[in-house]
Amino acid sequence: MIHTDKDMNFGILDRLRVEYHLRQIIQLDRNCFGGKRAWNKMQFLADLPGKWSLSLLAKQLNEVQGFAIASCFNSQFVHLHRIAVANDSQGRGVGKELIRAVEAAAKSNGLTAFTLECPCDLKVDDFYRSVGFRQASKEFTHEYLCLKKKVESAHLYLPIDGSSRRIFLKSLT
Ligand SMILES: CC(C)(COP(=O)(O)OP(=O)(O)OC[C@H]1O[C@@H](n2cnc3c(N)ncnc32)[C@H](O)[C@@H]1OP(=O)(O)O)[C@@H](O)C(=O)NCCC(=O)NCCS
Repeated sequence: MIHTDKDMNFGILDRLRVEYHLRQIIQLDRNCFGGKRAWNKMQFLADLPGKWSLSLLAKQLNEVQGFAIASCFNSQFVHLHRIAVANDSQGRGVGKELIRAVEAAAKSNGLTAFTLECPCDLKVDDFYRSVGFRQASKEFTHEYLCLKKKVESAHLYLPIDGSSRRIFLKSLT
């Protein structure tokens, strides 16, 4: 366990923990994202570089209250794929602590920058700003799309205003 406070535990979400808590994780994800955007079992269990040491689980007693799924796409960047906090636990600092814990894990793995993508309609920009992210510049967005081999999807991200997805960036140095 990385950190324990009075009633919430934050620990690395490795593959075994995903398997053990899968039913609760999928239910929480559905509650947060609704049917169309909900992830399936394969998405939660997919192997990605660094995923099993960079992802985090928040639990209260034995109930899953939140998770953050992250991986690294090269030796510099940790990338947040998913973050969700149970409806009843939102607004209590759980999301902030999940981000902080991913950052701590990333730093201890020598990673120096943190990226994420956010669909514009989710309206969570203020959350990401409050935990130190800023919206990526046009230049960085292009660099990111090249690194992630997503240049053919650039129309979804550029121009920055009016795009359907935004990239956020935070330096960890
Ligand atoms: C977004 C989410 C992870 C935030 O988790 P949380 O535990 O509720 O957030 P916290 O309590 O740690 O809040 C941290 C800060 O962000 C702010 N914040 C949290 N959610 C916010 C939102 N939806 N919009 C604006 N600000 C928000 C809080 O006011 C707080 O600000 P403060 O530090 O100035 O007080 C959570 O609301 C959630 O799971 N939402 C549904 C899933 C989702 O949209 N995920 C993001 C996909 S891109």
